[in-house]
Amino acid sequence: MRLSAILVFGCIAATAAVDKSTDFGMRMVVDAYESVCWYEYLKQFPNTDNSAYQKCGTQSSQIQADALEEADGTEKDYFIKNLSSEMDKLPSDYEECSSLLASATPDYKKASRNDPLKDGGQKNYPFRGFSKCLMKTLEKRHGPQALKAVDDERISGSKSVTGALLERTNQWRALHGVEPLKLLKDLEEAAKEYTSELVMMDCKYKKSNSNHPNRKYKGKKTGEVLDSGNYVAFKFADSGYQIANNWYNEIKDYPFPEGITEENIKVYGKVSRFTQTVWKNTEYVGFAYSEFTDCNNFVTVARYYPTGNTKGGFQENVLPPKE
Ligand SMILES: *[C@@H]1O[C@H](CO)[C@@H](O)[C@H](O)[C@H]1NC(C)=O
Repeated sequence: MRLSAILVFGCIAATAAVDKSTDFGMRMVVDAYESVCWYEYLKQFPNTDNSAYQKCGTQSSQIQADALEEADGTEKDYFIKNLSSEMDKLPSDYEECSSLLASATPDYKKASRNDPLKDGGQKNYPFRGFSKCLMKTLEKRHGPQALKAVDDERISGSKSVTGALLERTNQWRALHGVEPLKLLKDLEEAAKEYTSELVMMDCKYKKSNSNHPNRKYKGKKTGEVLDSGNYVAFKFADSGYQIANNWYNEIKDYPFPEGITEENIKVYGKVSRFTQTVWKNTEYVGFAYSEFTDCNNFVTVARYYPTGNTKGGFQENVLPPKE
């Protein structure tokens, strides 16, 4: 995915004929800004907030693209002004970096995208002060592991959607004091199979028939959770975190301590993805994620074994979060 982002950027640069160093500097600023936004609102656990992430996670790329359209010598000013106005979407500690945006130094010899992360004071690169300030503030707030996460996941982009989905699912499970789920190939295959079926279903998605052989493992019914949506789709691993967070956020409607009973069964439809996520007795999972190319949308299928959400099992299997 990173590759295509870079290619798109390359195209814009070629047609707009903007000073190359300014152009490159903007890319670095956008990277730094989005990385901070990502860590603060999506990666950081358990203080994740999908909607805050979506507010700052994409806008800066748009600003860069718009700035490049100007291509008449005002692009740098446009970029600085518009990006400054986005700074209030980050936690207030970052505010002090804003003033550095204006002191952009467009000249550079050679720079790479992770320079702000590894800045030892030697290299010069465009918008250096600003990007470096963001990274230093991130490190001050969350320690060196935050910079490492940015480097691993955003610069090298080594995590898949389903990898992030599993990681986040198990983080939520740990918060409820239950064992992590293990991936099972058979469940993954079944999930993939059903995903392909859904993709052929004309932009609609629906629960599978629970008697279908595809829903069985070792002769027993498996649990199913579905999702569809366009979660900042160009950053694939991020979609996995956001999907898991969305499912988990159904906790707000879950009736602790009595759980789902005959009386409040109406609530079930609003919380079933949360309850399956943290269901104690479930041990295995298989995830599949696929694009509905014609529908500008994405679909996720998850299968669980043993199945969660069994009648009468809620109190025992859905534990309250640990303090
Ligand atoms: C940049 O700022 C101008 C003027 O304040 C505004 O009209 C425009 O929508 C902004 N562009 C972006 C991408 O935020």
